Amino acid sequence: MPKTTIQDFFKKKAARQKITMLTAYDYTFAQIVDEAGIDAILVGDSLGMVVQGLENTLPVTMDEMIYHTKMVSRASKNAMVIGDMPFMSYQASIEDAVRNAGRFIKEAGASAIKLEGGAEVAEHIKAMTKSDIPVMAHIGLTPQSIHRMGGYKVQGKTEEAAKQLIEEAHIVEDAGAFSLILEAIPMELARRITEELSIPTIGIGAGTHCDGQVLVIHDVIGLFERFVPKFVKRYANLKEEALKAIEAYKEEVEKGIFPSEEQSFK
Ligand code: KIV
Repeated sequence: MPKTTIQDFFKKKAARQKITMLTAYDYTFAQIVDEAGIDAILVGDSLGMVVQGLENTLPVTMDEMIYHTKMVSRASKNAMVIGDMPFMSYQASIEDAVRNAGRFIKEAGASAIKLEGGAEVAEHIKAMTKSDIPVMAHIGLTPQSIHRMGGYKVQGKTEEAAKQLIEEAHIVEDAGAFSLILEAIPMELARRITEELSIPTIGIGAGTHCDGQVLVIHDVIGLFERFVPKFVKRYANLKEEALKAIEAYKEEVEKGIFPSEEQSFK
C-alpha cells in the first residue's frame, strides 16, 4: 500500500469515504497506528500534555516537535505524517512560518504541516503552500489560544461566532490549505462547513458530518486520565493493563519468582 497523499484526502472526500487520523509521538506507537491502516498520523503539540506532562501545549518547542516527528516518520510506511507547528513557530512572521514548516519536511520526514488559526494565518498558509508545503488548517477550539479563549471551551455557539467560523473556513481554503481540522464546535456548524468546503474537514469534537476524524492516541487507548474531553471515546484501558503487568512484575521480583530458570543462562 503506498503512502497516503493529499490527493488521497481529496479522493476520499469525493467518494464520501471517511478519513482516519490519530496522533502519535514516537516510533512504537506510530508503528501500531500505521499497521492499523490509519490514513494520517498527526505529531500533535498535544505531546506537551500527554508525553511531557505540561499544563498546556504552549511551552512545546520546534526542536521538540522535530525530535518526535523524526521518530514517527521512521515508523510510518503508509500513513501520511503531519507535523504540528508549535506556539510561536509561525505567529511572529511569515518567514518564521515557512522556515519552521520547512524543517518538518526537510529534517523530520513529514509530508505536511498543521497550524492553528483562521484569517490571521491566511498569508502564512499562502507562503507555505507556495513553497510546496501542504498545510492542514485548524479552527474552532485552538489550544494555543487558551489564554484568549479563557479555557478549553466549545466554540461557534452563537450565530455570530458560527458565521465567523464559516468565514474563517473559506479563508483558509482559499489560502491553499489541503484540509481543515474543526475542533469542539456544534455538529450542525461542522456539517455546514463540511458541505460548503471542497477540501476535507477533520473533526475532533465536531460531530459525525466531518469528512474524517482525529483523536489523541493516549485518549483512544486509555493512557491519559488527567483531562478527558466529552468528545473522546476510549476504546481500551491500557493504563489499567500496564498497571497490572507492572505490579505483577514487582511482586515476582520481590518474591524471587522472576527471573526463573527460563529467563536465565546456563
Ligand atoms: O495537538 C494535537 O494533537 C491536535 C489535535 C488533537 C487536533 O491539535
